[in-house]
Amino acid sequence: MSAEPLLRCQGVTVRFGGVTALADVALDVRPGTITSVIGPNGAGKTTLLGAITGMVRPASGAVALSGRDITARPAHARARAGIVRTFQNLEVFTNMTVLENVMTGCHRHVRYSALAALLRTPRYRREEQRCRAHAMDRLAFVGLDDLAQAPAGDLAFGQQRALELARAIAADPALLLLDEPAAGLNMAETRALGALIRRIRDDLGVTVVLVEHDMDLVMTISDEIMVLNHGCNLALGTPQQIQKNPEVVRAYLGDDDL
Ligand SMILES: Nc1ncnc2c1ncn2[C@@H]1O[C@H](COP(=O)(O)OP(=O)(O)O)[C@@H](O)[C@H]1O
Ligand SMILES: [Mg+2]
Repeated sequence: MSAEPLLRCQGVTVRFGGVTALADVALDVRPGTITSVIGPNGAGKTTLLGAITGMVRPASGAVALSGRDITARPAHARARAGIVRTFQNLEVFTNMTVLENVMTGCHRHVRYSALAALLRTPRYRREEQRCRAHAMDRLAFVGLDDLAQAPAGDLAFGQQRALELARAIAADPALLLLDEPAAGLNMAETRALGALIRRIRDDLGVTVVLVEHDMDLVMTISDEIMVLNHGCNLALGTPQQIQKNPEVVRAYLGDDDL
């Protein structure tokens, strides 16, 4: 066996009223990989991300991070443990500057009290400076440092997507969950996004779980792919294995909607 998985989901079942969104789903994510989760709309991909972050409570099953069971831990505790996600819809604070948006991602590491912030103590100012420098570094990483002082609402759609990534990596995640980051991007932007996600893995050492419909992107950058179908595991393998899997080909890869 290879190294212990960074993330292990076992037997995860999630119900919303009468709908079973996930049924006995398993997922292992090896450290340092990009692992993609694909499947048609309604397959349960976003729900799985919710079960990993703690926003969705499974009826049964277990989630472990680095071998530690986190099933009972609330979302904020998992975020502190290094699980960070982006959302399917843009979540940019349009009335704040680009830099301020990224600084909100630093909070996992900021060490001062609300009172210290109110009184602007030396410790608060020091931490604030550190956070600002870190946020600038992340903006440079995604190529938005020139726009640091611009209102975030002025950015083009593709730049706002990159801004979300900058904010996510400002938290120095161990595990970064991306929910359809290429949605709404053109081909050139999607290629740039793929290169950026790779650099997040290679240069920052972040393990990535990617939910994505763009098959070119998924097949290009994934180390491993898990296919969900109606809330169930359908297949697991490398891009080559998934592309050749007759069941997957029959169910999805011929489908333009995927
Ligand atoms: N909060 C919710 N309340 C009720 N049903 C939900 C909720 N979230 C998701 N579902 C249902 O669970 C199933 C899986 O949804 P989702 O995880 O969003 O799929 P995907 O991201 O793969 O498109 C769908 O049938 C969806 O309608
Ligand atoms: Mg979804």
